[in-house]
Formats: sequence, structure tokens, C-alpha cells
Amino acid sequence: MTDSQVKRVVSGIQPTGGLHLGNLLGAILRWVRMQDEAQCLYFLADLHSLSEHMDPDERRSSVREMAAALIASGIDPKRSIVFAQSAIPAHSELCWILNGTARMGWLNRMTQWKDKAGKNREGASVALFDYPVLQAADILLYRATHVPVGEDQKQHIELTRDIALKFNTDFDTDLFVVPEPFIGGGAAARIMSLRDGRAKMSKSDPSEMSRIHLTDSDDVIAQKIRKAKTDPEPLPEDEAALEPRPEAKNLVGIYAAITGVGIDGVLERFAGQGFGTFKPALAEAVTGLIAPIRQRLEELRRDPAELDRILADGAARAIEIGAPLLSAAKTAVGLAQ
Ligand code: TRP
Repeated sequence: MTDSQVKRVVSGIQPTGGLHLGNLLGAILRWVRMQDEAQCLYFLADLHSLSEHMDPDERRSSVREMAAALIASGIDPKRSIVFAQSAIPAHSELCWILNGTARMGWLNRMTQWKDKAGKNREGASVALFDYPVLQAADILLYRATHVPVGEDQKQHIELTRDIALKFNTDFDTDLFVVPEPFIGGGAAARIMSLRDGRAKMSKSDPSEMSRIHLTDSDDVIAQKIRKAKTDPEPLPEDEAALEPRPEAKNLVGIYAAITGVGIDGVLERFAGQGFGTFKPALAEAVTGLIAPIRQRLEELRRDPAELDRILADGAARAIEIGAPLLSAAKTAVGLAQ
């Protein structure tokens, strides 16, 4: 099999301190499953994190902490390539080359740019505007065929496709593989805040009670679930009845994602019962998922040298895979090397 026929998965996550249940069920467990289907490259997007201000020590420690969390969650560094984005200069170099292809108009239409810059576009960093081009470089460098991302990143993958196609046309080459946004590995769950069923579970929510961290003890998890916002109604028989009840829908969705029985499976079991019954069952499912991850995470934290070794090994493998593409891109545009 030649290199271009290998199914290759690339995805990144910004280092934001640590993982929560939303990251785990929404993205990471899907990454874990994909390891059985393809060669996978997973990285901590520390260069992307430069688009917004962050304390340098926090950035440094976040990369390590999140790498440990990925591995504790089941990303196997022997099978997958795990690294910090900044350890591979080719990401930045290819980004700059692609800056010659990407159009201002395309980037101006990105909803993440519009949302994050808000009314203060003049004060936003250039990196925030250019963020999707760096993301395109991340993907195209490794000739990724499949890019597992959440709904909110779909537009960036489409932009990556546009950049790849324009580059290939402009320079009369077939260098870039045009990637697909999704592949198997099961559907990703969209996990919402425990305090507001209409807001995504997020690291930036000021309330600790809104999310469950991989580092939370069983007691803390049970407490957060006990206090999660709900309504007084019992659980319904069919899924449609959950639509106007975002908090109930979210808790059922979490249970379904962990147990793999589907929303209807959960409702079959709990229809007619109130949250007094459902919440303890949910707490048991969540602690069952998180407790072993938390233990592995604690072990990895005790051995930072081993973690650094894993990241250095991942970086070396990523550099090797990316080098021919970067070199070919330089040749395509007429840069000396
Ligand atoms: N922008 C992605 C996010 O916020 C993270 C990311 C950076 C990424 N580079 C990537 C995802 C490349 C997939 C592929 O979730």
C-alpha cells in the first residue's frame, strides 16, 4: 500500500488545562475508537492557543496535562502519534505557504472568527483571524484523509478543502489530499452544561458545577450530578418529548453515550421514573467511566519524564511523516530549500 492509500486521521485539541466529560464523550473517546481503523495523529494545538492570551506557565503545563489526559483516556502512544504542535516547525512553515492561497473573504466568513472577535475585530489578534489556515496546515501536512471534529469545526474543514483545491489548481499539482470532515468511530455526543441545557459543557464556564473534570473524585461527580439542573417531570417514553426539556435531554444523552444503549434504550429503562432514581444511576455510570481514567492520569502525572519521552517520540514520528509534504509544497511554489 502506498502512502497516499493509507487511511490517516488527524485531529487536535487546544491545551486548556484539562479535559472534562464533554471533551471525553464528544471527541476523545471517538479518537480512541479510531485507533482501530486508521493511522492516527493527535496533537495539542499550542500554536492555535497563541490566538488568545494565556499565561505562559499555564500554556506549558496545559500541554502536559492534556497529553496525560488523552493517554489516560485511552489514546495509546504506541499506536497513535501524540505530540505538541509547536514541536513540529513544519506546521508553521506550511501555514505561511498556505497564507498565499487562502483568501481574506474566506476567512472573513468563518463563524468562529466572527463569534470570538465579536464587536472588537480591530483588537483581535492576527492569529485568531489566521487560525483556520494553521488548522488547514495541520491537516494537509500529514495528507489526512479523515478529520474527526465537532459540528463547530466543520466549516474549518470545508475551508481546508477549499485551500487544498485552490493550491492544487493554482500550482498544477495533486499534492494535497482533500480531507473529509467525519468518519466512523461512532457518533459524537454533544454534552451540555449541567447548569444550563442550552450551553455547551465548557472549560470557560465560570461555574465548576457546570462540568465534570477527569480529575473529579467519585464524591464530587455524584454531587455535581445530584445538583445538576433538571425539571420535576418524570422521564418520558419517547425521545421527542425530551426536546423541550434540554436539561433532561442532556442527562439522558450522557447516560446513553456512556452505556452505548441509545436514547431509546435509556428511556425504555427509565420512562415514568423521576430524577431521584435516574441521577444515582447516572452518577454510577459516570464514575464507572471516569474513575479508571483518573487513576491512570494520576500515575502519568507522577512520571513527567515518561510523558516528555512520549511527546518527544510522537514529535519525531510526526516530523518524519510531514517532511516530504513540506518539501514538495516548497518545490510546488518555487521556494529554495
Ligand atoms: N480548532 C480545533 C478545535 O478547536 C482544534 C484543531 C486545531 C484541530 N487544529 C486541528 C482539529 C486540526 C482538527 C484538525 O476543536
